[in-house]
Amino acid sequence: MCADRLSVYDAIRLRRDVRAEFTGDVVDDAVLWRILDAAHRAPSVGNSQPWDFVVVQDPATLRRFAGHVADKRREFRDGLPPDRAEVFAPIKIEGIVESGTGIVVTHDDARGGPHVLGRATVPETGVYSTVLAIQNLWLAATAERIGVGWVSFYDEGFLRELVGIPEGVRPVAWLCLGPVEEFQRVPDLERFGWRERRPLEAAVHRETFGA
Ligand SMILES: Cc1cc2nc3c(=O)[nH]c(=O)nc-3n(C[C@H](O)[C@H](O)[C@H](O)COP(=O)(O)O)c2cc1C
Repeated sequence: MCADRLSVYDAIRLRRDVRAEFTGDVVDDAVLWRILDAAHRAPSVGNSQPWDFVVVQDPATLRRFAGHVADKRREFRDGLPPDRAEVFAPIKIEGIVESGTGIVVTHDDARGGPHVLGRATVPETGVYSTVLAIQNLWLAATAERIGVGWVSFYDEGFLRELVGIPEGVRPVAWLCLGPVEEFQRVPDLERFGWRERRPLEAAVHRETFGA
């Protein structure tokens, strides 16, 4: 165990979606490998391990993706009513180039063959498994003081073509990953007045969901 790594509760509390705090340095390869190893240890339905990770560090590819995301951000902004557009205006939604590393997490529903144990009744459990790998990655990165920002402002077809994702495999996330100056204490969307976190009491129900 390394003394300067955090407990899981500390990492959960410290974790942030990072956009503006990347230092511009590229993550050390040994650290990146530890983080990917943590992702790969996620639980998965039928032990299908339906994820793959495409590590993107070519600055030209990062810039191309950032350009596409900027277009999608504009489209979203243009669809907002004026009061929400004003709140949205200062919110940064990605750190694609500054992070120095993009990780495209993909999902392959065919992994594990036609009889995935546990997926027959709830088909989404496949994607749930891939998303759990992302959460492992995010928390492990935080424990290493490495920031992660999830970017979903993209057209699937564009990202598929950009990094050569084969037919039948689905991109689930672009994660910006890199060293950070600091982790914000309060999520950006709360700081900028977009949306508050609900109190835990509102999310926990006992015995039945209720009214
Ligand atoms: C599925 C998913 C997609 C997201 N997409 C984006 C995104 O495109 N851009 C962005 O800035 N943040 C994105 N986020 C981050 C959320 O805005 C963030 O998690 C939320 O505001 C809470 O902040 P925190 O993660 O710092 O606690 C995404 C998060 C999730 C789970």
